[in-house]
Amino acid sequence: MTGRIPEPALGLLREAGQVWAWDGDDPVPIDVRDAQLADADGVVTLLSDRVDDGFLDAAPRARIVANVAVGYNNIDVAACTAREVRVSNTPGVLTDATADLTMGLLIAATRRLGEGERLIRSGTPWKWGMFMMLGTGLQGRRLGIVGMGGIGTAVASRARAFGMEIVYHNRTAVASDIEQLLEARRLPLDELLATSDVVSLHCPYSDETHHLIDAAALATMRRSAYLVNTARGPIVDEAALVDALDDGRIAGAALDVFENEPDVHPGLVDLDNVVLAPHLGSATTETRTAMAELAARNVIALLRGDEPPTPVN
Ligand code: GLV
Repeated sequence: MTGRIPEPALGLLREAGQVWAWDGDDPVPIDVRDAQLADADGVVTLLSDRVDDGFLDAAPRARIVANVAVGYNNIDVAACTAREVRVSNTPGVLTDATADLTMGLLIAATRRLGEGERLIRSGTPWKWGMFMMLGTGLQGRRLGIVGMGGIGTAVASRARAFGMEIVYHNRTAVASDIEQLLEARRLPLDELLATSDVVSLHCPYSDETHHLIDAAALATMRRSAYLVNTARGPIVDEAALVDALDDGRIAGAALDVFENEPDVHPGLVDLDNVVLAPHLGSATTETRTAMAELAARNVIALLRGDEPPTPVN
């Protein structure tokens, strides 16, 4: 294990075999990691690990890389497949936590909660005012969901409870009973961007989605619109977003992920109309425990000769 994971998952792995886990707060030093990888039959990785040919060269016995995340853009899956190394991720168990955080960010941005917090903490005198810090309500507004998988759908059902209208962009249409339940309509991306009051990103990050939201895409959004990103940072061109927010070309943004994580574009930090969170989408005790247990179950299944429960390749 390249990092610490919750104890119940560690317990499962200890029952099944011999375990080594890096216990430091900083990333594991490469020489320490490689010395352990040399004998590893399976590896549990975090989204901050880059699993590439160099990593795999150091792990010649490894038969599975179990990522403790639903996103696996940190793993070169083709390189793993070429070496007959299985890859697994943790879909499903983090859907609700991530959808909840998305709604929290959406409300924080549209109701200016970050600004309000900063005002009070700064000690600036204030009093209730009819026109003070007015935001935007959600009822009757259109939410455009880019990537209508498990998390996108869970966000849509929460947003319906807030009275929002749902449109989505996805390679394939979602099942018609879900479309009906959510009264959701599938739209081309440009139409979704041009007509949504809030755009929320839930697609995986890949070459195809790199800078999907660039200057041109931002220019098609409404001036009153908000962008929420709880997916992966590089789906958005962060410099273009800073320009758009700075010029008032969109109203605001809420970001849980960043292009060069953990670095945050300095332009974002200076702006009042953006809410910033440090990649907390799945960060509840229950969810992180469930994610780690699922990763452990993938390793154990594969090494026992069974099919892993949530394989990627
Ligand atoms: C978190 O970002 C995940 O992909 O699980």
